[in-house]
Amino acid sequence: MRAEKSPFWHIGVLGGSGLAAGIELEDAQEIEVASPFGKPSGPVTTGRIGNVRFTFLARHGAGHAIPPSEINYRANIDVLKRCGVTDVVSLSAIGSLCEEMAPGHMVMVDQFIDRTSQRTNSFFGTGLVAHVSMADPTCERLREALGEAASLAGGHVHTTGTYVCIEGPQFSSRAESRMYQAWGADVIGMTAMPEARLAREAELPYATLGMVTDYDCWREEEEGVEVSHVLEVMHKNAEIARKTVRELAKGLPERREPVGIDTALEYALITAPDARD
Ligand code: ADE
Repeated sequence: MRAEKSPFWHIGVLGGSGLAAGIELEDAQEIEVASPFGKPSGPVTTGRIGNVRFTFLARHGAGHAIPPSEINYRANIDVLKRCGVTDVVSLSAIGSLCEEMAPGHMVMVDQFIDRTSQRTNSFFGTGLVAHVSMADPTCERLREALGEAASLAGGHVHTTGTYVCIEGPQFSSRAESRMYQAWGADVIGMTAMPEARLAREAELPYATLGMVTDYDCWREEEEGVEVSHVLEVMHKNAEIARKTVRELAKGLPERREPVGIDTALEYALITAPDARD
């Protein structure tokens, strides 16, 4: 039986390693949380900003030592769920596949194309089969609140965008970059999948705030993507990311009303009850 969600906001934040340290949280605590799905990326930092509890988890671990393909996405989402988070916000660096989403801008991703191939992408499997809907993979309510917070924090925000998630760790070739444009992708990254799928299976509304760091490599005049350049833009945007979290805390209504995603599994389990492991 599912536990009722709290009527108060508790936001899980998956982001960079320095993020939590730069935000003044009340009653901050660092906690190691174990998961039956293996080792999460690290301990969580939990604390409050006003009435809103935040629990941060650095997805690449301390010192950015875990590559995108080796992140234990299941353990990370499971740990946030065990901490009692009600909703998940993901902050990540992305490349842009269109002129108008320029480096330094922020994109409220609303759709994904999944090109990953080496990551366990479900909590379910043999013995317990479930099919959740991913038609609308992000939560509109959370996305709007996050976009508003990012604007108030001084960000140049695009309110929608399709994110193609590649396996990495290499960046794309020019031919791939142009192919993703032809598919309708606006931005490109390496981490939102299977995070968004697993959040849905865990009945956690999910929203991604992508921070554009580069134009990938589709432009004739552009050199390939360089990590030094990505890091430079990330550092410039770090304070906006922290401010966005503070503005989100201020902007959310005092009580959290339930949303449909809170019960995403209700009609998703297909294995007969007497055949379940
Ligand atoms: N993260 C930041 N920029 C990226 C790009 N161009 N491709 C994939 N992931 C990225």
